Amino acid sequence: MSELLTIALTKGRLAFRTLELLEKVGITCEEMKDKHSRKLIFVNEELGVRFFLAKANDVPTYVEYGAADIGICGKDTILEEGRKLYEVIDLGFGRCRMCVCGPESARELLSHHQLIRVATKYPAIAKDYFYNKKHQTVEIIKLNGSIELAPLVGLSEVIVDIVETGSTLRENGLEVLEEICRLSARVIINQVSMKRENERITGLIRDLKRVLQEDMT
Ligand code: PRP
Repeated sequence: MSELLTIALTKGRLAFRTLELLEKVGITCEEMKDKHSRKLIFVNEELGVRFFLAKANDVPTYVEYGAADIGICGKDTILEEGRKLYEVIDLGFGRCRMCVCGPESARELLSHHQLIRVATKYPAIAKDYFYNKKHQTVEIIKLNGSIELAPLVGLSEVIVDIVETGSTLRENGLEVLEEICRLSARVIINQVSMKRENERITGLIRDLKRVLQEDMT
C-alpha cells in the first residue's frame, strides 16, 4: 500500500467549499463535515488520503515542509507567506480583493506619496505594494484582525485588507482607495511530493480541473 496523500485544508468557510469540490472527484470524508467536531486529522484509508485542518496562514508552511503534500488556501496567504511551493489551480471560489482602504480624505495622501501609516494583517503584501510597485515609503503596522478599526481610531491613515462584499468598509465610513490584486482559493503542492507522488497528484489536478470546467459550463 502506498503512503497516505496528505491534504491540508484551511479551517472555516474555505474548508467546506473545498470538501464539496473534493467530493465531486470522489474524495470524501464524512467525518469532516461535522461543523461541531474539534478533530484535526481525518483519514480515509480506502482512498489513501489524510486531511487536516489548519489556520489559513499555516497551510503554505505545512506544504513547504512536506507535512502536507497538497494544500488549499487563499492567494492572500500564498502571497503573504512567500513559501517555496507550486501553485497549480485557481479554484475560483473565495473570491475577494486585496485593497488599500481608508477614508476618502486619505486619497490625497496616497497620491502625494506622503509618509503614511498602513495597518494590516498582511505586512509582506503591503510592503511589496508600497515599496516595489508604488515606490512610496510608508510605515507598516501589523495587526491581527478588525483592521478597519485602525483608521477610525487614528492608528493609521490607511489599511491594506481583504474586501469581499465591501459591507465592513461601508458600515464604517471607509472605501477602497486602490486595488492591489484579486484573490481566490488556490491548490498548492509540495515540490518534492510533486515528483515522488507525481502520478496521484497530477491525476488529482486533472480531475479537479475537469470538474471546475464542468461547473463553468
Ligand atoms: C475580513 C477582512 C475584512 C472583511 C471584509 O475579515 O479582513 O474585515 O472580512 O469582508 P466584507 O468586504 O465582505 O465586509 P474577517 O471577517 O476575516 O475577520 P478579521 O476582521 O478579524 O480579519
